[in-house]
Formats: sequence, C-alpha cells, structure tokens
Amino acid sequence: MTSSNNTTYWPKNRYLEVYNRSIDDPEGFWADEARKLDWFKTWDKVLEWKEPFAKWFVGGELNASYLCVDRHAKSERRNKVAYYFEGEPGDTRAITYAQLYREVNKCASALKKLGLTKGDKIGIYLPMIPELPIIMLACARLGVTFTAVFSGFTAQAVADRLNDLEAKILVTADGGWRRGSPFPLKKVADEAMKLAPTVKKQIVVKRTGVDVEMADGRDLWWHDLIKDADDYVAPESLEASHPLYILYTSGTTGKPKGVVHSTGGYMVYANSTYKWVFNVDQNDVFWCTADIGWVTGHTYIVFAPLCAGSTSVMYEGAPNFPDLGRWWDIIEKYGVNVLYTSPTAIRMFRQAGEEWLEKSDLSSLKLLGSVGEPINPDTWLWYYDHVGKGRCPIVDTWWQTETGGILISSAPAIQMPPLKPGSASLPLPGVAPQVVNENGEPVPAGERGLLILKKPYPGMLMTLYKDPERFKEAYWNRFPGNYLTGDYSIQDEDGYFWLLGRADEVIKVAGHRLGTLELENAAISYEAVAEAAAIAKPDEVKGESITIFVILREGYHPSTPEEIASMEGAIKKHIRDTMGPIATPERVFLVKKLPKTRSGKIMRRLLKAVAMEAPLGDATTLEDGASLAEVQAAYEELKGQV
Ligand code: WTA
Repeated sequence: MTSSNNTTYWPKNRYLEVYNRSIDDPEGFWADEARKLDWFKTWDKVLEWKEPFAKWFVGGELNASYLCVDRHAKSERRNKVAYYFEGEPGDTRAITYAQLYREVNKCASALKKLGLTKGDKIGIYLPMIPELPIIMLACARLGVTFTAVFSGFTAQAVADRLNDLEAKILVTADGGWRRGSPFPLKKVADEAMKLAPTVKKQIVVKRTGVDVEMADGRDLWWHDLIKDADDYVAPESLEASHPLYILYTSGTTGKPKGVVHSTGGYMVYANSTYKWVFNVDQNDVFWCTADIGWVTGHTYIVFAPLCAGSTSVMYEGAPNFPDLGRWWDIIEKYGVNVLYTSPTAIRMFRQAGEEWLEKSDLSSLKLLGSVGEPINPDTWLWYYDHVGKGRCPIVDTWWQTETGGILISSAPAIQMPPLKPGSASLPLPGVAPQVVNENGEPVPAGERGLLILKKPYPGMLMTLYKDPERFKEAYWNRFPGNYLTGDYSIQDEDGYFWLLGRADEVIKVAGHRLGTLELENAAISYEAVAEAAAIAKPDEVKGESITIFVILREGYHPSTPEEIASMEGAIKKHIRDTMGPIATPERVFLVKKLPKTRSGKIMRRLLKAVAMEAPLGDATTLEDGASLAEVQAAYEELKGQV
C-alpha cells in the first residue's frame, strides 16, 4: 500500500487500456476474445442477460474436443507433447497431440457404440491418469455432459452425484496409486452403482492390475471397448450454451450444488484467462498440481492448456512419495516452467524444510501460481524465495468452482503489477468485483466487506443443475443484480484485492471483527509455526473468544509440559504483539495435524466442536463428501491431541 491514487498508480499502459475497454464495451471485448477460438458457426448475439441467467455467444456453435485436440493434431503441433504423465510408481507416458486425437476419437466411438448421444449424462470416477482427460474430451466430442468425481470421494458421494444427474454410465478404474499402494477404486464404484439405479454400465480402466470382479453384462474393460472402436468420430456442432460439464461443490447446506458450465462461454474464458495469467510460451511446460476432480484441474489441466496447445505435466500420486523430493524431481525431469499449486502444499513443504528442494535443479521455473485459499504473506515469501529462488513472480489467483476460471490475479501477459504478498492483486479484464457492506453499499478503500461481482463474464456458471431457485438464492438474492461470492475482501488504495476467506469465518471479539485468516497469518509469522487455524468460541463477556490450533515446524517441538506451556504462551504473545490485545487467543492448542476437507480446506466446525468439548452435531455437512465415519475419525483424532 504505497500510493494513494488509484488512477495514477499503474503507468498508463496495457492493463488499464485492456481493462477499461472490457468494462466499457464488454460485448465487443468478449467477441474479440471468442474469435481466438474456432467456431463451426458464429454467434448472432454476444450476450443475452436475463438476470441472473446469462447466455453467451447465442447462436454460435463449437466443440470443445475439436478445440483441444483436432486443431493441434491437424497442425504443425501434431508431434508436440500434450501431457507428460508421471505415474506414482515411476511409470511415464508422453502423449502427443496426434496420439491424444487418436485416443479421444476411439473413446468417443466406444461411447457412441454404447448408445450415448448428445444430451446424455455420465459420471467419471478416475484417478489422475491420462484416461481421465481422454474421457472428458470424448464426452465433449459427442455433447455428452459429464460429471467428474474426485477419486477420493466415498461411494455415497459418488452415488448422490450420479442420481442427481440420472447418469447412464460410470467410468472408473481398477484402482490408482497413492503413497506406494494401489487403492481399490472399483470396489467403491461398485458400492456407488448399487445406490444409483440409473447407471446401467461401468467402464473400467486397467491401471493397477489388481484383481477386480467384473459384473457380467454390466462391467466393460476400457481396453476391450477401444479395440473395437472406430478411428474417427465427427465432433458434434454444439450450441454455445450446451452444458460441457456439471461439477458438484459444497454450499452452506449439506446437499452439494451442481454447478453447470457451458461450452462456448467457458471455453472462451478458460482460454483467455490461461493466456493472460500464465503467459505460457509454445515451448513451455506447464504444471498444475491440482486433481482433475476439482475445478482447477478441469480448467487448468484439461480445457485451457489443451485449447492453447500447451504441454502439461500430469502427476498421479502423493507429493511426498517416496519422499518430499518428488515434486522437485518432476520439475527438474520435465523442465517445468510454470508451477501452479495450492497454499496448503506450499505450507507443507515449508514445514518440512528447504533441504528437500535443494536436491533438484529448479532453474527452469519462470512463474509460480497459487490457488484455492488465501496465501499467507509468510508462505508467499517462502514460495518466492525457496521455490522461485527470488526470480519468479507469483500469480495469486482467486476464483471459484462457479466462476469457471480465474477472476482476480495479476496477468503477466498483459502487465505484471508490482507484487504484494498475500494479495491476489487486480481483476482480470471483464471482471468487476466490488467490496460492499451488509447493505450492499461500497465500502472505502482499506475496509473489509463482502465481495460481489457486478458484471457477468463468459466463465460464469449458467445455473445450478435442476435448481434455478437455489442458484438465485445462493448468489443473487442478497444483492439483486450482483453475484455474491461468499468471500470477505478488502480493496486497498492501490486497487488491489485482499481475499480474506469465507464470510462465515469471521470472529467478533468485543465487537471487533477479526478474520480467521488474519489471526492465522499472525500465528504463522511466528517462526516456530507452520500452520494455524483459528476459530471462535462463544464468550460470555466478549461475545466470542479466539481459539487457535497450531502445527509447529520441524525442530520446534516442545517435550515437557513446561516447554509446551511456554510455547503456547509465546504464540499468544506473538499474536497479541502482532495484532493488538484484542486478538489475544484464549487458548492455543499444539497439534500434529489439522482436519481438512479433501479440497484442503480446514474443517472449522470440527475444530470448534473440539475446542468447545461439544459433540460433533450435524457434522455431515462439514465436508466435501466425506462420510460421517471419516469426519468422526478426524474428530476423535484431533480430540486425542488436545
Ligand atoms: C477460496 C477453487 C484467497 C475462496 C478455485 C473462494 C481463494 C473459494 C483463492 C472457492 C485465492 C480460491 N485467495 N482465497 N487465490 N482461490 N479461494 O470453489 O474462499 O474450490 O470462494 O474453487 O476458495 O473454492 P473452490
């Protein structure tokens, strides 16, 4: 926060020029972006906005699989590698665009022979193996709408999604590799099938080779289907608003929301944001470490990099298998230029110590990215210093499953603004975020408020599947005409956005509002602390008090009760010193592990239950699809530690 004048801070150059045009003439701007893709039929109308339902590129027709595969396979890029796949056991595959084209066509042909056509729905439940993007693209080729379910989800979570979609087929594998052993995915898939009567067939990829039971007439091996398949299936010409996929995500209630993404708007948005933010050159190697089961993987492992004709790395397994050097080996081995990962991963590596990175040559890296949670300034600096060696800018990318692609981030391809650790920086072109108070009025610079979006953009979800009312209720009813992100944010005097976590994670101590994130940042800025999670506990006098759970860094673990008490005291004092007396935690718990959802978010309600010595209560809604037993186990484990 160095300057006070929003309009003169950036030199008058490309960012402002591009951004201003996108806001003044959104339809002209997005039409120009859309022309960067190949369309089978040009649109008649750029945007039809029947609030809150947006239809982009109305009348236009295209096909995502054609954009991602055919265009490259029929060009000088045909022998370029689309994916370097690295299996956890160390097996590798380099798949060129020409090979990807063959595999996608064969797979599409197999699906077609099974009777699938445009408008059908299928479920995909696969580990991080090349067949996952291949089946997604094959579906896109036929106009079959898919939902990909993270391979760590339980049978019930898979079945809920299949039932909501009335899916006809489930695609799975005999298993996948995680921390040195095969996990029995097909068993879970079989359980899910029992609970999902619309699903008549199962396609099974052989990955681990472990024995599986194949149900007669129901279960089909992928490799058998491919053997009999045709080499070419014409891509369907699909209207821009044809649903490409439906991805389920947690909301404030227990039932996951089926976020519906279009074909046209989504592909335009994925392509443009990928180019603006990651600035990937034709010879670069891009690595997004997310699982394809999450939106980050959908957009930035599958649709955007392939649409752009990039080379990506895809890694199957755990970051710490066989040891914490694995990721850094992969970066050296494939010469990764752009690394896109999560703060959770970075904090894990920070906690383990720098020596794991020093064994590998990371000099190929040019740009680093972060996504999924706010990144604490100290974690940011560690990432910058030790992974990027002080050479690589960091793009902190803020977005959501609902938004389809990145909304707030610096965009090196347009202009790299001065970096501020912990801030996602500026909105991308076409994105109009604003920080407002409870009444929807804009708050002054530097003040915390709710983040809303004032304009539609092509990546925006079309609706929630089969539930337009919930779509309105969840995002639009609070501030009509504006999309409620559910996040708190501050916009500083330079126009930078600081994302402060979900709006439901604020602690009010004696009338003062404190973000859990600010508390956690304060804790993590203490040298002994690797990770922290703050929660509120009801307090008779102050309204709420703060409890903070802390994981210590290697080498700082106290052993005697005196040492433990002194460490807790030191952390309290540090937070008090950093944020003021009001922020002094009532309790500090030193723990070895924090319970997290599968997407890496801390289960705060579970922490709260432990801190209050209360029963779990309605904890099934806590979690991205984990079973009650898993939540219960995490609860018991945490209780055992405090
Ligand atoms: C949070 C992940 C701060 C935010 C792509 C958002 C972030 C939610 C960032 C969406 C970031 C994501 N800085 N917070 N760079 N990126 N978030 O749907 O709270 O899994 O609302 O999408 O993650 O999570 P989702």
